[in-house]
Amino acid sequence: MIPWVRKYQPKKLTEVVGQRESIDKIVAFYQSFPRDRTIILSGPHGSGKTAIVTALATQLGAELIELNASDYRREQDVMSVLEPASRQGSIFGKKKIILIDEIDGLAGMQDRGAITSVIKIITETRFPIFITTNNVWNKKLKTLRKSCRILELRKLETPDVLRRLHKIAKLEKIKIEDSVLKKIAAHSDGDVRAAINDLQAICSGVELFNRDRIEEVESAMRMIFKSFDSEAAKSISNSLEIQPRDFLQWLDQNISSEYYDKKSIRDAYDYLSQSDIFLERIPRWQHWRFLVYVYLLSAVGVQQSKTKPNPKQVRYSKPDLMKYWIRAAKLRKAKGLAQTIGPKLHASARSLQRDFIPYFNFIEQKNPKMAKEINEWLGV
Ligand SMILES: Nc1ncnc2c1ncn2[C@@H]1O[C@H](COP(=O)(O)OP(=O)(O)OP(=O)(O)O)[C@@H](O)[C@H]1O
Ligand SMILES: [Mg+2]
Repeated sequence: MIPWVRKYQPKKLTEVVGQRESIDKIVAFYQSFPRDRTIILSGPHGSGKTAIVTALATQLGAELIELNASDYRREQDVMSVLEPASRQGSIFGKKKIILIDEIDGLAGMQDRGAITSVIKIITETRFPIFITTNNVWNKKLKTLRKSCRILELRKLETPDVLRRLHKIAKLEKIKIEDSVLKKIAAHSDGDVRAAINDLQAICSGVELFNRDRIEEVESAMRMIFKSFDSEAAKSISNSLEIQPRDFLQWLDQNISSEYYDKKSIRDAYDYLSQSDIFLERIPRWQHWRFLVYVYLLSAVGVQQSKTKPNPKQVRYSKPDLMKYWIRAAKLRKAKGLAQTIGPKLHASARSLQRDFIPYFNFIEQKNPKMAKEINEWLGV
């Protein structure tokens, strides 16, 4: 399946949302070449920096020489591409645009050797060069700033992001409530890439819950919750055609409607959480055999946790995807924040997520003024 961020990468500048003024300036820069030879586009993640340059190239029918600076290990490797690219005409006889994407990742940024080489290239280039970065005010870009035009793209507003989501939902012919789209947009914090990825994740989850699948899963739930037959629980959970993650969410969603005494509920969640730990480790360690434990701990663990089966018939409900998604979005946001403030607080992102963010959230609720001051000090 192609990721929607790729599939719906803007092919025309009119498809780019919310950056009108910047686009006008970018087009003006392009047209005025060689008065200015290079422009730095600076702005937050997923605001459209790379997208604008690729759309411009497509629209002009120009050849785009794209270098993602972080893909190169050695400074010489970048230069060996950049130097000829900036001198020789397009081999297809087309116009040509050069994009140095994410310059912050350029090897040799530390000793500034790379920047000196880039500056040399941009003073002599025969073709317009676009450079992108998340922060043009990075100290290491100081000398580069002097030789380029600088354009700061703004962080997108929720309605901008929403417009793009609406468009994609329409093109994909998906039925999705407007309120869900609004939530995704608001949670993205101006990052269109994150919003589109979330939309796709939610839609693929919805697809998983078609009628036949649901019946199959419901009968597995009944088996697990009502019986003590561990062999049956093991094999039925293994044969289900849903992702292990979704299986765990089904159990999570229904434990409290089936089990009624505290001990059963507590034990069931204990097993479920252990299963979840194994599931998390699989992609990280590439230990696929852990899947056996995931199913044993979840299906059999939850099954054996009950003191006695609930004689009542229970209607099973499918997992509330929105709930999981909101949790994941919050976590992602906390992670991003922890990474940004790490250097200032001299702590790892991991420990900040554990020791700082929960207390900061509390302060934010109880004393917004103090939270604002902290934010200012942190520079976020
Ligand atoms: N303003 C926008 N309008 C339409 N689509 C966008 C916009 N911004 C981002 N997107 C979508 O998100 C994807 C990623 O955006 P893009 O690569 O332009 O982000 P970026 O600003 O370069 O972020 P980063 O700093 O992380 O590289 C694009 O392929 C596109 O699908
Ligand atoms: Mg980019």
